[in-house]
Amino acid sequence: MFEVLPELTADPILGLMTDFKNDTDTRKVDLGAGVYKNENGHTPIMNAVTKAQQIWLAREDSKVYSAPAGSPSFNDAIIELALGSQHSAIAEQRVANVQTPGGCGALRVAANMLKRCSQNSKVWVSTPTWANHIPLLASAGLELVEYSYYDSQQHILDFDAMISDLSQLNTGDIVLLHACCHNPSGADLNPEQWRALAELLNTKGAIPYIDMAYLGLGDGINEDAYGLRYLAEHCPELIVAISCSKNFGLYRERVGSIMVAAANSKDAQTCKSQLLNVAREIYSMPPSYGAALVDIILNDAALKHNWSDELIHMRKRISSLREQLCERLTFAGAGDRFDYIVNEKGMFSFLGLTVEQVKRLKQEHHIYMVDSSRINIAGLSTNNMDYTVESIMSVL
Ligand code: LMR
Repeated sequence: MFEVLPELTADPILGLMTDFKNDTDTRKVDLGAGVYKNENGHTPIMNAVTKAQQIWLAREDSKVYSAPAGSPSFNDAIIELALGSQHSAIAEQRVANVQTPGGCGALRVAANMLKRCSQNSKVWVSTPTWANHIPLLASAGLELVEYSYYDSQQHILDFDAMISDLSQLNTGDIVLLHACCHNPSGADLNPEQWRALAELLNTKGAIPYIDMAYLGLGDGINEDAYGLRYLAEHCPELIVAISCSKNFGLYRERVGSIMVAAANSKDAQTCKSQLLNVAREIYSMPPSYGAALVDIILNDAALKHNWSDELIHMRKRISSLREQLCERLTFAGAGDRFDYIVNEKGMFSFLGLTVEQVKRLKQEHHIYMVDSSRINIAGLSTNNMDYTVESIMSVL
């Protein structure tokens, strides 16, 4: 029976990790998957996580099932991290969430719930968006429509085009937004644009669905959460898929949360029951280990402080790499072509190269990036910067 199945090529982002691993050239540079790396190209375990692991090891006394919704104290802590402790939606008790296997688990659980809400609603996604958004949402049976977002000629967020496309929203449509550090462009909405967007969504009766995978890696936790917090206050209904992969460095532990801010506490409870029901259909309940670590960190003032300092260090390193890359490219003769990279946020920016140029970088220079020429800025370092710049210039 299995012979009817075609063999598929590897995922365009995850496949790069394998290709990079198998490359034996010592000059190789990994600018592929969105993973934080230090100066030595290593993704370290954060110190706060190491300490939390020791605490958890001493504390955990059973491997019995946890709970379908995951850890209640993790769930509360993650709501507070996302919305801030004083948010009106929390006071109004209209927020519900469940722990999920990573941000992908969160996105998918909500997608299945949305499909149950309406057969006709469309999900609007930015052009471009994270490549995996499309199969994740479409395979839940949702119809996707694209809205303009990034102008790849001028390297800016084209807000007018975005608003113009979204003016075609119908009541009950869903708009997928990136809370911060837009993946793949690095171009984020500013506060004024978030406010204008909230007004449009409310006028149209559309629902924001926010993917928040990079909180703290743009401008800081409060700054990065501005749009989410504003929308949660001003829109009657909202969904947030949260990932702890990047900002806690817990990639392989699969820690995430799906959160709904509903019109009232009764609807929030109903949504929670639906999310749990969907989760049971797919994977029953989330893994506990990584979420236990996040729970320990967020509920211990000293550890939370350590973690936040480490996150600040990661963010500052990424923005310094942005500046260095841009400076070196200019110095190497690229003029102001790459200046936009300094103003973009988070791990990603486009280099604006053709697929052919990306292929040459991989084959001739052992530099790995997604075909769209999206690079993971955090994969750069003082060790590989000159080589990377030289190689980019040679394919231009
Ligand atoms: C990325 O966009 O590179 C990351 O989110 C990793 C992934 O799963 O695609």
